[in-house]
Amino acid sequence: MRLATLLALAAITLPYSAAEAAQDPYSYAEPDKVRVRHAELDLALDFPARVIAGTVTLDLDWRDARASALNLDTRDLAIERVEALDEAGHARALSYTLAAPDPELGSRLGIAAPGRPARVRIAYRTAPTASGLQWLDRQQTADKQAPFLFSQSQSIHARSWIPLQDTPAVRFSYAARVRAAQGITVLMSALRQPVQGDVQRFDQPQPIPSYLMAIAAGALAEQATSKRAAVWAEPSQVAAAAREFGDIEAMMRTTEQLYGPYRWGRYDMLVLPPSFPFGGMENPEMTFLTPTVIAGDKSLVSVVAHELAHSWSGNLVTSATWRDIWLNEGFTTYVENRIVEAVYGKTQADEEFVVAAGELKHKMPSLSENQQRLAPVPREVGADDALTDVAYVKGAWFLRFLEARFGRVVFDAYLRDYFDHFAFQSITTEQMLDYLRANLVDRHPGKVDWDQVEQWVYAPGLPESATLPAVPAFTAIDTARAAFLHGTLGAAALPGGDWNTHEWLYFLDHLPEAPTLVQVQALDAAWSLSRSSNAEIGMRWLPRAVRAGDHEVWPAARAYMLRIGRMKLTLPVYRAFAGSAQGLAYAEAAYAAHKAEYHPLTQRAIEKVLREAHAQPVADAAR
Ligand code: BES
Ligand code: ZN
Repeated sequence: MRLATLLALAAITLPYSAAEAAQDPYSYAEPDKVRVRHAELDLALDFPARVIAGTVTLDLDWRDARASALNLDTRDLAIERVEALDEAGHARALSYTLAAPDPELGSRLGIAAPGRPARVRIAYRTAPTASGLQWLDRQQTADKQAPFLFSQSQSIHARSWIPLQDTPAVRFSYAARVRAAQGITVLMSALRQPVQGDVQRFDQPQPIPSYLMAIAAGALAEQATSKRAAVWAEPSQVAAAAREFGDIEAMMRTTEQLYGPYRWGRYDMLVLPPSFPFGGMENPEMTFLTPTVIAGDKSLVSVVAHELAHSWSGNLVTSATWRDIWLNEGFTTYVENRIVEAVYGKTQADEEFVVAAGELKHKMPSLSENQQRLAPVPREVGADDALTDVAYVKGAWFLRFLEARFGRVVFDAYLRDYFDHFAFQSITTEQMLDYLRANLVDRHPGKVDWDQVEQWVYAPGLPESATLPAVPAFTAIDTARAAFLHGTLGAAALPGGDWNTHEWLYFLDHLPEAPTLVQVQALDAAWSLSRSSNAEIGMRWLPRAVRAGDHEVWPAARAYMLRIGRMKLTLPVYRAFAGSAQGLAYAEAAYAAHKAEYHPLTQRAIEKVLREAHAQPVADAAR
């Protein structure tokens, strides 16, 4: 064996302990001392004031007989009263301190709890600027009938609308009563109960982590897609959404056949206004979705497959800390691709994975060594740092590697057992690895060396064992693209009329970051790419056209930035404008005029792009 190979296979010694890896540095909670087991919310939505006010009652499981304090996470909450409740429901005031805010973590709410009460009630109100909520005026909605509210708690924003132990290591069930004005439908990450007067009620009987706490409210309509699935959206959008997501029942059956029963009762989906900052969010029983996935031709429904897959990987078996987030996102990206394969065929599944793998390879060099690890060194990661394509695509790729080595039959059975074994638990990478070793690797000797597993999980970059399926359509596209770039094939002669959306994405992804102006103009003249209504095409095309210096696309790029609040799509366009002084001024003016329409998280991300561009006027061209 060559020395380099030997070195690559040498077992990895980690510079931290399993105990350190299991700590969540992004929460003030002390789950070893006390755990919330159930929460009762009693809330009122005040749209004019942009405030949620009410109480949360926490049922506590004291695990340390010497403990005498309950530490909770909060951010920008006004705490009005804290009391202990005895069995008869009698309240006794508790003293508490709200610590000065840490910019990332928020404020620790320290509650003195002598005698370790079984129930604690906190009366509180949110700030209009709560980081986990977006309040929209009725003019900012599609139908302009009523204002809209939605939450986005992942990763550490639940604490901005509920005081709680905001760590994925703690799981609790919840029930809620929410008062809202007439005509406002409230939805939560829970099962809806019959309405009582002006009170809408919810029940989440399963223990879930805090980042899955979710609420939305607005003028909403529902359309069923099967007995246990429905789409919610503003009335003018609900029919198109139900058509686009009509395969949800087929997706659910596929996943159940592979990995065991769907354990959450209903699977409903809510289409949010365009300012929703993500593609989707797997809130249990009520997936939140960006309207940008409604392409009209189901070409982007893998986002729905992804959020559904989280009902197994993520919501059922949950990463215990943000450092372990690849257990959620990598497993989910793998399962998503299996769903797409079963429902839409192997070609589409392979195309989607190869596109994602290409994006990962493109971004890998710009990530720090630690970010290139599936399981990063814990003390070096921020709460959302581990959330790169590494967690998603390298994570899924690792599972594809295992599937290839052990064979589909064995690996599918293993994964199903894994979901059963850890159901409704939060686990670390190291717990997953112990289970993998005992139940897969050691049971089928000779297939995979443990050192290879450790390379995948703990080493930066991609191992040599990372292979991709052959996609003949992509090989033909590579040839056509090369001919176009060499000037031997005109833009109109490209066989783009035969390409599906994924094939177009592949064509665009492997164009130069800044094509020549002539190339951009020729492609746009032949294929009207700047006018594409497919948001994934726009995200790949518009930045390249801007960087090529094509000022004619500026209005289309501006309209795109203002129409779409999903960070992954809108930020690349801002970054492209930020690459020139004139472009930066244009993007800044557009942002200044429409800042209020963006979600707080998106505002923060755009402002960072603009600020960094000022510090370094000609930003690098990378996405
Ligand atoms: N759970 C994530 C969204 C998320 C991650 C929100 C981290 C906040 C912090 C969700 O399941 C997701 O991965 N969404 C993707 C969709 C996708 C198909 C990869 C997105 O929003 O782009
Ligand atoms: Zn996900």
